Amino acid sequence: MGKLILGQLLENNRKWIKKQINKDPDYFKKLALGQSPKYLMVGCSDSRVPLNNLLKAPPGEIFIHRNIANQVSLTDMNFLSVLEYSVEYLKIEYIIIVGHYACGGLAAAIDGVDQGLMENWVAPIKDLYINNFKELSKIEDKQKMADKLSEINVVSQARNIFKTAVMHRALLKETYPKVLAWIFDIYTGEMKEMHLPLEQWKEEGILPKHYEY
Ligand code: CO
Repeated sequence: MGKLILGQLLENNRKWIKKQINKDPDYFKKLALGQSPKYLMVGCSDSRVPLNNLLKAPPGEIFIHRNIANQVSLTDMNFLSVLEYSVEYLKIEYIIIVGHYACGGLAAAIDGVDQGLMENWVAPIKDLYINNFKELSKIEDKQKMADKLSEINVVSQARNIFKTAVMHRALLKETYPKVLAWIFDIYTGEMKEMHLPLEQWKEEGILPKHYEY
């Protein structure tokens, strides 16, 4: 891990340019024209979860916001502007929250050891941990328990999307983005889709009854 030296990174970039131009001499001209991605993804900053690489998605395909533990924070201007821009201007079709197993942010939330500001950032996960303690405490293996919390976290962040004004506005229209939650299983490399209890969310009033998925 962490083996690439700085010069090699730039060398890789030059090789990539050559490869792209070989395939299509106008590649960069076309790239510069603009973007119309179908997906907004909210992922973790973790260096082991580079979404484009994992999904073999070339430039122009995914609009991405990343932060520690893939949080959908309702007070984060950075995230909210990404959400608004991608929904209202890029008109993306899917919002996908991507969590992952063995997430350091989750461990910090559970253990509460001093990791600086990150502890403040993951405080909402600490609440998820406390609220789901009964279920989580039944899992003896500590890593498996943390991974279960990763799943709970990603579903909770998907739910948070429906609390935003951007999504409320979008849901008044005929077409609106669909919300999904995925987990990157770092032990196998598989991207797994999580079940979202959308019918339950409708009953709770978080989601309008007309939302189709
Ligand atoms: Co993480």
